[in-house]
Amino acid sequence: MARAQLQSFIRSADDNSSRITPSACRHVWNDAQKADSALQDRFYDSTVEKYALQEVEALSLQQMLEFGRAALFDSTKVLASARHVQKELPKRLARRLMDLQFLPYIVVTNPYIKRVYNAYHHAFNTLRQMPEVQTREDNEQLTSVLQRLVDEHAPMLDALAAGFKECKLKPIVGPKLQLDGFLDGMLRSRISRRIMAEQHICLAARRPGFIGIICADLSLPDAVHFAAQRTKQICTETFGAAPDVIISSSGAQAVKMPYIPTHLDYMLFELFKNSMRAVVDSCGSRRHLPAIHVTICPAPNSVTLRISDQGGGIPEDSLEQVFHYGYTTVDDGELSSQGQDEGAVWAQMAERAASPGGPWRMGGLGFGLPLSRLYARYFGGDLRLVSMPGYGVDAYLSIQYLEGRWEESRVEPQADPISNGGDAVALP
Ligand SMILES: Nc1ncnc2c1ncn2[C@@H]1O[C@H](COP(=O)(O)OP(=O)(O)O)[C@@H](O)[C@H]1O
Ligand SMILES: [Mg+2]
Repeated sequence: MARAQLQSFIRSADDNSSRITPSACRHVWNDAQKADSALQDRFYDSTVEKYALQEVEALSLQQMLEFGRAALFDSTKVLASARHVQKELPKRLARRLMDLQFLPYIVVTNPYIKRVYNAYHHAFNTLRQMPEVQTREDNEQLTSVLQRLVDEHAPMLDALAAGFKECKLKPIVGPKLQLDGFLDGMLRSRISRRIMAEQHICLAARRPGFIGIICADLSLPDAVHFAAQRTKQICTETFGAAPDVIISSSGAQAVKMPYIPTHLDYMLFELFKNSMRAVVDSCGSRRHLPAIHVTICPAPNSVTLRISDQGGGIPEDSLEQVFHYGYTTVDDGELSSQGQDEGAVWAQMAERAASPGGPWRMGGLGFGLPLSRLYARYFGGDLRLVSMPGYGVDAYLSIQYLEGRWEESRVEPQADPISNGGDAVALP
């Protein structure tokens, strides 16, 4: 796949997710705000339960590929895909809305988490109330609604992270909150819903070399190079310097595989941000920054990428913590709902999501590693770190070839007050 093509694809996806304008998001948040007094009603809305109880269909790659290929010459397949997405998304949203309902009061009433709940509820209602897609025009309408929801929900990740960070700081309850299981469920669901929505949106785009959002022949060296350059630029803008990235492949063949470029880019971007920040931090005012080395090693069913930095490593007693959501050694001190009304909290989130600069762009929410691992594991891969304290970190990212037999493993589990509630607050 041509590098320019890959870059423009990732850029367009990135434009949707991280450089979203405040006005694009304002709609859902303002809606949510207007209806804030109705939050209580929404909690007692039995429609959510009704949908949450319905059977959810597993996402399968074979189905995505079949629909994607057939849609190229058979437009009825696009309509069938639309109806499938329309049927599945509200059920998945309903299950996660129930998860949020089971959270402790102190979490649910946090302004950021409230926003997330309201935005999910808004998406749930919007999708379930749309008439079933029958015609091309109906599909165009659904596609634009899906695109709008994908755009509007971009700041949701930051909102979840900021909300839980605040809750963890609460005395008494805060230290007892164990949210990893809950967040894994929420974010795995977010990955699957975005795949479904974006796959459908992309069916219309008919990009050469792609089936929906899946790139049939993704060049890993190109993807690594692109993510490295992007991170280098942000690192330089933030800290005034950035280490070089040297890429090598074991084996002579060009490493190409079918994968979703935006997923790979997310993981690489997070790993590069961590490595570059560590290198810049540990080198202080030294002029020479040791380069980051990336080795791409293909195996029959997977590819492993090793990202090695000399940023001083992670102390042994912290290594176990780095995969917990919210764990960070970066003080980003920017986000706070303290003393702010709901509108101000949202304005802050939207501005942050739309802002081209700011120290938070290099980290600080503590979601980079756990979420990257979730992305990797979603398609059967993994992410591991090996730290040499005092020297540096090797991150091993393994990704599986996406093949037709892949099927979602933990299919949108039913909300469960025992495991979720129990997980949310560990009882003494
Ligand atoms: N390559 C690395 N070198 C040193 N420390 C690292 C590295 N990668 C991750 N860490 C540590 O793990 C923490 C969590 O990383 P992450 O989940 O990406 O969150 P964030 O970058 O927002 O802090 C970082 O704050 C840092 O302390
Ligand atoms: Mg990070």
